[in-house]
Amino acid sequence: MAARVALADWLETARGLEPASIDLVYADPPFNTGRAQRGEGALVYADAWLSVDAWIDWLRDRLAATLPALKPTGSILLHVDWRTSHHARLLLDELLGAVHFVNHLVWAYGLGGSSPRRFARKHDDILFYAVDPDRYFFEPPMVAATSNRMRGELKKATDVLDIPAINNMAAERTGYPTQKPLALLELLVGACCPAGGTVLDPVCGSGTTLVAAARLGRSAIGCDLNPDAVAIARERLDGVCAGASGWV
Ligand SMILES: C[S@@+](CC[C@H](N)C(=O)[O-])C[C@H]1O[C@@H](n2cnc3c(N)ncnc32)[C@H](O)[C@@H]1O
Repeated sequence: MAARVALADWLETARGLEPASIDLVYADPPFNTGRAQRGEGALVYADAWLSVDAWIDWLRDRLAATLPALKPTGSILLHVDWRTSHHARLLLDELLGAVHFVNHLVWAYGLGGSSPRRFARKHDDILFYAVDPDRYFFEPPMVAATSNRMRGELKKATDVLDIPAINNMAAERTGYPTQKPLALLELLVGACCPAGGTVLDPVCGSGTTLVAAARLGRSAIGCDLNPDAVAIARERLDGVCAGASGWV
């Protein structure tokens, strides 16, 4: 298996990909929160566009350049939140067609505050689209059953993924802002990319997707504009891939 991560814009990376070479694209772009995302120390990335339309235009260019790299059995997981999930779904309908929609996954992460003015926002949205709705790869992930009847058994995961966000004491914590938990990415990669296949994360941040792919025996390609992100992703991958052939 090979893993590589580049300091590059998603658009530039997408334009350099071999057609029909990628099994799974997982993209967790900035959510257009309107403010910089700050992690620990000096770790920060910009997350503000002038308007939702400007964010959508930015995303459209990049997704359109990426889709030709997907295999006919491939799929895409686009990770967004309440601010843009409705726009992002329409964008994917526009680029791929509504019949290519597979799931609207809810990542229920638990952590965070509450509000006296509304229901507390405790989930992100992951939009799952397939290149070919009749032959995309999918291996249903098994999760612990919660009902009394099935206690202690495993069952197929639903479209609501109850996986805690990374807490302050977690060993996997890198300090990079908006780092996603490895458990989430291992579930998604295992479900949507065949063993030995290739995963692309074009906004890889701290490299969680790439680490998940490497741990599960998939090849990984990542890029990010932020040099801190790339340094962290490389260090994490070094830990998983040390000694493995193809690690660059
Ligand atoms: C939400 S974070 C990704 C976090 C990642 N999933 C993780 O687990 O660490 C979004 C990333 O997109 C990167 N980014 C923003 N614009 C980009 C672009 N045009 N090309 C590549 N990366 C970009 C940011 O630097 C940031 O690291």
